[in-house]
Amino acid sequence: MGPLKNEPQKPKEGKLLFIDACVRGDESRTRGIAVPIVAALSTRYEVEKIDLTSMDISPLTPSSYAERGKGNTPEWAEKAARKIADADRIVIAAPFWDMSFPAVLKAFFEQVSLFGITFEDNGKKCVGLCKCKKVLYVTTRGMDIPTGDPREQGTPYIKALSYLWGLGEVETIAAWNMDYISPEKIEEKISGCVIEGIRLAKTF
Ligand SMILES: Cc1cc2nc3c(=O)[nH]c(=O)nc-3n(C[C@H](O)[C@H](O)[C@H](O)COP(=O)(O)O)c2cc1C
Repeated sequence: MGPLKNEPQKPKEGKLLFIDACVRGDESRTRGIAVPIVAALSTRYEVEKIDLTSMDISPLTPSSYAERGKGNTPEWAEKAARKIADADRIVIAAPFWDMSFPAVLKAFFEQVSLFGITFEDNGKKCVGLCKCKKVLYVTTRGMDIPTGDPREQGTPYIKALSYLWGLGEVETIAAWNMDYISPEKIEEKISGCVIEGIRLAKTF
């Protein structure tokens, strides 16, 4: 049940950016885990979603790289970079593809990793400019590869990016072996991750 009509709404604790890279759309198990977790978080945070699956994102090319050098950044990328820099919490949902995540997410990161917005340098090293304190990375893997396994290159990348941009602590919620188990087991694993995420949402 939602809040009663005259019940005062609790003020939100900040802004949450939900970056959705679930290329299989509503078929996606990863999205099926992330959506109820983000719904739980929406009681505490103002949620905004960036749906990478509905955007036409390419990596930098010789010409777009040259434009960037002249200070010309695509408007959408600058807007998204500012949303990242301004978010208090970030949730990233992306399936495990080719031992990491879909290339559209890497291309997105490349486009929005902007000097003076998400990071800068102090003459000695790069310094993150984002105010985010916690990132939740939700994924599902086809093979029997747990989080932290050296073959799993999603979490380490997001942790490294958090170092560059200053995003804080990275937590991964993952289900694995999804392509080699029964439909019942798949559902069980998805529910387990949703429960874990909703529990985490109380302190995230
Ligand atoms: C293009 C593609 C690449 C994939 N690469 C891997 C992989 O390298 N390792 C793996 O364990 N699973 C891989 N998988 C399987 C997915 O990780 C698995 O089916 C996952 O649950 C899909 O998530 P989704 O339902 O959110 O799309 C791949 C699937 C696709 C479609």
